[in-house]
Amino acid sequence: MSATAAPIVNFSQGVPDAALCPDFFRTAAQREENAELRAKNIGYCPDNAGLIEVRRAVADSFNLFYRPTARIIPQQVMLASGCTSACVAAMRHYEEYQRSSAEQPIALLQSPTYHFYKKQLHQLGVPWQMITMPDVTGLSAAQRLTPIINALTLYPGRDILLVLNTPANPTGDVYPPAFTEKLAELLKNNPSLSVLEDTIYERLVFADGVTPTSVFAAVSSDDAASRRVYHASGLSKAWAFPAGRLGYLIGHPDVIQDIDNAQDLMVGQMPIDSQLQLLTALTKTDELCPGYHKAFNDYLRHNAAQLLTLLEHMPALRCHPPQAGIYGFVQGDESAIKALHAASKQRGLLFPGVQQFGELGLRFNLSVHHDTFAAALQLFSEAARAEGILIGQPPELNVQLIPVFNEVIRGGRGAER
Ligand SMILES: Cc1ncc(COP(=O)(O)O)c(C=O)c1O
Repeated sequence: MSATAAPIVNFSQGVPDAALCPDFFRTAAQREENAELRAKNIGYCPDNAGLIEVRRAVADSFNLFYRPTARIIPQQVMLASGCTSACVAAMRHYEEYQRSSAEQPIALLQSPTYHFYKKQLHQLGVPWQMITMPDVTGLSAAQRLTPIINALTLYPGRDILLVLNTPANPTGDVYPPAFTEKLAELLKNNPSLSVLEDTIYERLVFADGVTPTSVFAAVSSDDAASRRVYHASGLSKAWAFPAGRLGYLIGHPDVIQDIDNAQDLMVGQMPIDSQLQLLTALTKTDELCPGYHKAFNDYLRHNAAQLLTLLEHMPALRCHPPQAGIYGFVQGDESAIKALHAASKQRGLLFPGVQQFGELGLRFNLSVHHDTFAAALQLFSEAARAEGILIGQPPELNVQLIPVFNEVIRGGRGAER
């Protein structure tokens, strides 16, 4: 890129672009408390599903976070190279083991959805149907359930895999607890229904009064229903560490055992050093990086507020205030969206801060590092102005929060210990 070229804001990672506590992951494998585990497990090859100590840490963290109806045990956890790998393992297992009828299963995807699910389902030859929501947020639990109930009626006896993502990419929406409870009931009463839930954004919650829930946690005490729910998650988002590929799948012990036994369902074992990083992150974050998650959530809250202020001044656009995750979503007059999209792209917003989701609307990334966030807001305002979209005050940049955030994540406190 030449020195005079416009700054390029690259959102393509789709992950929080923040410098975490510098030595947090780098030194994890070498940490004294991990030395014994490491020394014991460098041979070929450690347990397929992961070291039991690490699986226990994942189970404990899940139990603490979701308070499941029956506590999860380490044998219900499989480590995977990222949440996406966990989703692939779950889909493969579903396709091979869960079919109760000879007819091909069908997947239900929420619209708008994370594109990855479609690609994987396509590879497995599982057709999908989008569940169209007339509006992405503000729906009651009953409204959210209606398309699922309709599908059950439309395909009686046919195996259905519902793929859920909460908090959601790209809308920042979180399913309300009442939805999860009702869906759990539906699962208990409909043996042809299975669920794959992806909760990768579960710890990035910045709206007041919002608590992510898990369908797996809600059915964990029901043997039959919990066999049909897969919970995929990981640390790439909330710990801003996608390169570690620290993910996991949680399920019924027999499901995890099936996957462990059948090598072709595994999607790559997690290297031992990554397992120790996962262990350190789950058990030592509070000690090594005190206040980290709170600072991160405050940072996102601040960014969300700024984007909303900006959007308020664009009458052609309607923004659904995100509740969690790293995305915001706007809808509006199609031509305004298209113009804004094109103009932003022209100005170097690569994975558009401003990414078009079909005809549905645009996705914003809230999580970029403060320098890029400021630049993005600036570019975005310029793009909007160039298209004659009215903007009021130039957006105030998030200066107050940056030092607090940096102190916690860069440095500071505790990280040098
Ligand atoms: C909904 C969702 N799941 C999973 C991932 C990727 O997770 P990982 O990096 O752990 O594979 C993403 C990344 O954009 C995502 O948006």
